[in-house]
Amino acid sequence: MLKASIAVLASGGGTNLQALLDAQARGELKSGEIRLVIADRPGIGAIARAQAAGVACAVAVRREAGFEAQVQELLAQYRIDMAVLAGFLGILSPAFIRTFGKPILNIHPSLIPSFCGKGFYGLRVHQAALDYGVKVTGATVHLVNEVPDGGKILLQRAVDIRPGDTAETLQRRVMEEAEWKLLPQAVETAAAEIVEEKENLS
Ligand code: GAR
Repeated sequence: MLKASIAVLASGGGTNLQALLDAQARGELKSGEIRLVIADRPGIGAIARAQAAGVACAVAVRREAGFEAQVQELLAQYRIDMAVLAGFLGILSPAFIRTFGKPILNIHPSLIPSFCGKGFYGLRVHQAALDYGVKVTGATVHLVNEVPDGGKILLQRAVDIRPGDTAETLQRRVMEEAEWKLLPQAVETAAAEIVEEKENLS
């Protein structure tokens, strides 16, 4: 069966990458195949997770010059149809997005348009939600465009904030109740669309 080839970009522990790998192993990510993981620095958890799953993994250091060109080259080399930012904490330039020209999905740990955009990543997002005092937060999967966290929303799920939550407890609950479920679903839907387009062209 024709599949969309997927690259996953990660910056840290890689639990969202793991959710995608697990969905693939369970047969729930059936329209796409994760062919490449790009880690944005050496030694991060995402690398070990890719290796354990037998998926090719490359390191491109985000803070070094030439990062985007290196990623672009890898995406071309592996003939990637869709990139997934799964805990990728950088912001890709408009030129990068234009040059790739294919869907890029991102998971963000809040209900966009709250607590998003430049400077809102990882635990900072959850700390901002706690500081503001909102009672509900959640996660969003969206398409990446030239506005940070500003592309079309694909899926969202709400998560309650509980008295006594810290940024860490809230991050964990948002991951368990929302991120790890939403991301594989959204990736499967996007992959199925790519496969359909490919089939229409062939
Ligand atoms: C996740 O909560 C993800 O949503 C967030 O970083 C964490 C990475 O965890 N991403 C952002 O904040 C992007 N703006 P992971 O490495 O275990 O998937």
